[in-house]
Amino acid sequence: MPMESEQLEAVVMDIVAGIRDAIIKHHVTVDQYRFAVDYLGRLADARELPLLLDVFLNVAAVDAENEVTKGSPQAIQGPYYREDAPAVTDRLKTLDHDNERPLVVRGQVRDIDGSVLPGAEVDIWHSTPTGKYSGFHDNIPVDYYRGKLTSDSEGAYRVATTAPVPYQIPNQGYTGALLEAMGRHSWRPAHVHFKVRKPGFKTVTTQVYFEGGQWVDSDCCSGVRDDLVRRTTQEDGVDTLTVDFVLDRAA
Ligand code: DHB
Ligand code: FE
Repeated sequence: MPMESEQLEAVVMDIVAGIRDAIIKHHVTVDQYRFAVDYLGRLADARELPLLLDVFLNVAAVDAENEVTKGSPQAIQGPYYREDAPAVTDRLKTLDHDNERPLVVRGQVRDIDGSVLPGAEVDIWHSTPTGKYSGFHDNIPVDYYRGKLTSDSEGAYRVATTAPVPYQIPNQGYTGALLEAMGRHSWRPAHVHFKVRKPGFKTVTTQVYFEGGQWVDSDCCSGVRDDLVRRTTQEDGVDTLTVDFVLDRAA
């Protein structure tokens, strides 16, 4: 949905002011400015504008929403959500990988008053043990490493899968070239994605990261917040990630 003219004018002029200030503060030359214009044109021709913008800015739009919601903190959705993920009960389909580590993901869904929410859809997706996403990479069928659970009469959900690993965003193009030229890397820390919904409630789209995980402190998409990081526990000898959700009522 587009912005009203007043908000649009305010937002665009603040963006322009920020860029103008950076150009002046860092003594960017006209030649360098021209190089940047040309770079952005080539990046757009290569259809990489969404990637570049998402790397730097998606998190800000999410955090703007976090400021006004009473529910669980939201996080970037990323490009690998699939609406057509299968319904699952207790296990995500996984492929056999040498380095796979079993992981249980569990938790409970409540409303903002603390009442348990049965019948909430908990849609989970995450990378393979080699950092790929089903339905997008390596012809892995869409019903692997993702699925839609339903919270039980206690609002609880629980699913067995394998642990995701750090993921490198597409870095062979203009976005990767920029990050490299800046001396930055293109890694995201290992994470599990969630989309939790129930009619009458605001959907929570979020990700959870692993305490101490590689790149947690330097996510290339700046998507990590303290309240999205969890320490796993051992339950019956299996790494267990506990993620509870609070759903705010829909407006
Ligand atoms: C990207 C990939 C992800 O898995 C994610 O969660 C966010 C962003 C990306 O490739 O830009
Ligand atoms: Fe992801």
